[in-house]
Amino acid sequence: MASSSPVKPVVEIAPGEPPNDDLSGRALRLRIRQQELLAELGVFALQGTNLVGMLDHTARMTAEGLGAEYCKVLEFIPAENRLLVRAGVGWDEGVVGKASVGADLASPAGYALRTGKPVISNHLENEKRFRTPELLAEHGIHRAMNVILQGDGSPFGVLEVDSKSEGEFNEHDVAFLQGAANILGMAIEQRQYQLKLQAALDRHQVLLKEVNHRVKNSLQVVSSMLQLQSNNAGNPELSEQLQEASSRVNAVGRAYERLAYNADYENIDLVDYLREVIGDLDSAVAPCKVHLEAPEKIQFAADRAILVALVINELVLNAGKYAYPGCPDGDIWVRVFRTDDKAVLVSVRDDGVGLPAGFDPSTSKRLGSRLVNALSKQLGAELTRPSVTRGTNFTLLVPLH
Ligand SMILES: Nc1ncnc2c1ncn2[C@@H]1O[C@H](COP(=O)(O)OP(=O)(O)OP(=O)(O)O)[C@@H](O)[C@H]1O
Ligand SMILES: [Mg+2]
Repeated sequence: MASSSPVKPVVEIAPGEPPNDDLSGRALRLRIRQQELLAELGVFALQGTNLVGMLDHTARMTAEGLGAEYCKVLEFIPAENRLLVRAGVGWDEGVVGKASVGADLASPAGYALRTGKPVISNHLENEKRFRTPELLAEHGIHRAMNVILQGDGSPFGVLEVDSKSEGEFNEHDVAFLQGAANILGMAIEQRQYQLKLQAALDRHQVLLKEVNHRVKNSLQVVSSMLQLQSNNAGNPELSEQLQEASSRVNAVGRAYERLAYNADYENIDLVDYLREVIGDLDSAVAPCKVHLEAPEKIQFAADRAILVALVINELVLNAGKYAYPGCPDGDIWVRVFRTDDKAVLVSVRDDGVGLPAGFDPSTSKRLGSRLVNALSKQLGAELTRPSVTRGTNFTLLVPLH
């Protein structure tokens, strides 16, 4: 944040006071205040403040702690071999975000960046080691201190404090400045690390979506091949079995189709998913008609939703095959609703001829029955057959988690 007026230092060192290394009186209070400021900056960094806020806060706090009118955070731009003023206090309008100084060894900031050593210049006008950067000359800066600002792996830039006033920066001051730069460097590193982590997470999600897409496509191919084989089987019983196998694969594929287009890559809406599966089953059991009653959306883990769909697939296909032998256009009802916040009740009902006398699906060795029993068990669900006056009625009480 640029500021047109110089920061008013909280701790002022009057001219003629003992040098800062005499730890008495005001100088001692200054050191204590510097410690407090470093502690505050540390807390600020730990709070995960955004980078701009952190740069601004450091510049302001550093100027205050050193009783200086100017401070700036310089970011190294390797392509230009310059140090850009990213944040600062005390500077005229148009400096922050725009002005830059050379990053070569002949500038104080460049020297600190290249060597990693702190630089104190108490008399810039007499300085033989460096040229005085234009920006400092324009603002009548008399003395400056520069320390390196570490980033993630390579240096981020330089933290510099400047003053127009007489007086001298000493090694205690530079230790404070380096302390502030270290905390800021840690915050920058942390932020860059978080950005990398987020990028990795985003990439992971993109890959997962891609995988779901491919699984969906592959299952569609398998389902279509089984369907083709069923059409060409030349044997009604084999054709029916292939048709059922195709329907099972298709039910699983529908879940991956949802996942591929979902923002959430683990959960899907059970009702929307079942509506598609039942839409496919409707043509498989035609001219029977399948009706879905589901009053509300139900978020469900995709892997569990697949198991529910496979159970429904078996029960609906059975109803289509056996419930209405004399009148093949009967109705099949599927209901799905939440009983409470812990479970979902699924029921598949028809009003056809009912199960053969003495037939017990819980002990049947037929593939369909075995699948329904095994999948229910895997879901931790309770499979029951409430008594009905006509037809069959299977209910499945599925825990949400
Ligand atoms: N809705 C229903 N109405 C009448 N009879 C049914 C119904 N559902 C199942 N049955 C009877 O239960 C039997 C067992 O069904 P199950 O699904 O276990 O085997 P299947 O459908 O004969 O063969 P598959 O193993 O290919 O599914 C069926 O053969 C049928 O006689
Ligand atoms: Mg069956």
